[in-house]
Amino acid sequence: MSEVKSIAVIGAGTMGCGIALTAATNSIKAYQIDVDKDQLDHAKTYHEKTLARNVQKERMTQEQADQAAGLISYHQDMDDAKDADWAIEAATENVELKKKIFQQMVETFGSNVVLATNTSSISITEIASAIGENAPRVIGMHFFNPVPVMKLVEVINGLATSEQTSQRTIELAKRMGKTPVPANDRAGFVSNRVLMPMINEAFYAWMEGVAEPEHIDEIMKLGCNFPMGPLRLADFIGLDVCHDIMMVLYNELGNQKYFPCPMLRQLVTAGRLGNKTRIGVFDYSTS
Ligand code: 3HC
Repeated sequence: MSEVKSIAVIGAGTMGCGIALTAATNSIKAYQIDVDKDQLDHAKTYHEKTLARNVQKERMTQEQADQAAGLISYHQDMDDAKDADWAIEAATENVELKKKIFQQMVETFGSNVVLATNTSSISITEIASAIGENAPRVIGMHFFNPVPVMKLVEVINGLATSEQTSQRTIELAKRMGKTPVPANDRAGFVSNRVLMPMINEAFYAWMEGVAEPEHIDEIMKLGCNFPMGPLRLADFIGLDVCHDIMMVLYNELGNQKYFPCPMLRQLVTAGRLGNKTRIGVFDYSTS
């Protein structure tokens, strides 16, 4: 199987942007796809800013930054990327939406193209069920935010994922400078099975008055060596995303302990989603 030279990244949200940039900085052409033009513009700005910062910090030369920028193209139509050697879906965490996108991916890309998903918690087997005999090409390739910085790719085989798909995913993750680690296809895999209940518990600690949010975070940072506290991290990930992942854990594992904390639910209902709305647990409107 020939080396992957180009990747179609479907979805230009935080994760999709990061995946496209990481591909390009590792000399892989990236088609950044999103139906929403504003998201594509936002992705382009993020790419330009991050590359400029890398040059300023002498992590790369201007020439390398220009080369990486030149490897990313922006498209509203998936068909523009039909020659890509690899496809990864990084759309909203909604199973029906993902199934629809996978059906479109089968129509669009060649039969040798791996169809990966960056889902953070939805079953790979379920997503693959939407495309029948193409299920052996489907795999979970779960990156972490911020993608250019975080080393891990959690690699999740669905029930039908072929050995070849799995091996090629491990190879590609390494070429993108990441460390692939396998996990099985259970709700939340390993990362979010462990991380999200911990974040949810921090919301309970806040709601029950155990400590103020900034103190909860400070205790976890200074006492447990977390780079950011659990509530700050929730804002960074997106409170809606945290909520949706908890609902997947709750629905799939059937245990009340995974139900999202009322405090988390209330902030999501109010539209306080964290960094992206400039207010979540904390207020970023002046920073
Ligand atoms: N894109 C690219 N690079 C970024 C970045 C971004 N969004 N954010 C930070 N960086 C880079 C910058 O280059 C920066 O270096 P520089 O200042 O020399 O340019 C470097 O990271 C360090 O950033 P900062 O100095 O701003 O701040 P920190 O030292 O606090 O690091 C952090 C920021 C890397 C985000 C760190 O706080 C951290 O590791 N936080 C935890 C992140 C985490 O847990 N992520 C996983 C989330 S869960 C997930 O993604 C799974 C999903 O399914 C929910």
